[in-house]
Amino acid sequence: MNTAIYPGSFDPITLGHLNIIRRAASIFDKVIVCVMVNSVKNPMFTLDERVELINRVVSRLNNVQVETFSGLLAEFAEQHEPAVIVKGLRAVSDFEAEFQMALINKKINPKLDTLFLTASEKYTYLSSSVVKEMARYGADLSEFVPYEIIDDVLAKSGNRR
Ligand code: PNS
Repeated sequence: MNTAIYPGSFDPITLGHLNIIRRAASIFDKVIVCVMVNSVKNPMFTLDERVELINRVVSRLNNVQVETFSGLLAEFAEQHEPAVIVKGLRAVSDFEAEFQMALINKKINPKLDTLFLTASEKYTYLSSSVVKEMARYGADLSEFVPYEIIDDVLAKSGNRR
């Protein structure tokens, strides 16, 4: 079975993430969305909350499962071998950090490859940070996050529709 691991902090999941998940799910037999700790970010949602939000959004994608792991990505991947990492690339500015992470992961686990999917042009501007900033001002999030989680993101930011 061809398995892809799509890791990220997903704080919260955006329409850009969902686009990558859908496309990976049409290429691979199974996609594991892995909600992880990014040590340089200060999250709005707990890991468990993020898992719950993503589960709600991907419930109709039969070959997608959502997990969380607080260790190294390379270790998580080892538990699911053979699997590849899938990442989305929005712009050249993403490339340097993503290239470095792919190389570090391969250094830790030489069998582990990273495949990059180019973000849909519609979503190149989009990030979880932009979503959180917009939510703080009570903006319309319908073009940024899946509709199933809009209320949760606004509520967490102290706003309601
Ligand atoms: O969505 P993000 O915040 O860009 O995702 C980054 C993430 C969570 C995939 C990355 O920080 C990560 O892999 N964290 C797990 C710890 C790890 O394996 N670090 C080594 C790679 S530098």
